[in-house]
Amino acid sequence: MLKDKMLEGLNNQIREELESFYIYLSMAGYFDSISLTGCGAWMKAQANEEMSHAMKFYGYINERDARVVFAGLNKPKADWKSPLEAFEDAYKHEQHISGCIHKLAKLAQEVDDPATLNFLQWFIKEQVEEESSTRDVVDKLRMIGEAPHAIFMMDRVLGERK
Ligand code: FEO
Repeated sequence: MLKDKMLEGLNNQIREELESFYIYLSMAGYFDSISLTGCGAWMKAQANEEMSHAMKFYGYINERDARVVFAGLNKPKADWKSPLEAFEDAYKHEQHISGCIHKLAKLAQEVDDPATLNFLQWFIKEQVEEESSTRDVVDKLRMIGEAPHAIFMMDRVLGERK
């Protein structure tokens, strides 16, 4: 059985992951509205990943014979000044999520829950990738500045994300 504090933390992480879904879908809406549909597709793929992260926590809580409880989501930001600003926000958001996962891992140690600590290992690794992929786009967008043809090329490359 999960300890109360651990269950509360895991349920809160479902909210964080669903909020991530919402944030990236909002970014997709911004990109699609300015016809950067490759960036929009990249963000939709990211949003889908976040939903799958939420569902991993959902599945784990049920496996541990505990109850999933949802909380309300914050309204996501809807506009950005530039593609760079949106991806900078995505990178900052992933850093925030890494912090949440690390806190959960610390809590699992504190409450002596090795099963949850083991479950969280996948997320610890995943966050390294998530930070790296968003930082990579930020670095490239900083490099190309506001050159329209380069942004167009970048949009095509990002649209190839599966
Ligand atoms: Fe589920 Fe992007 O962290």
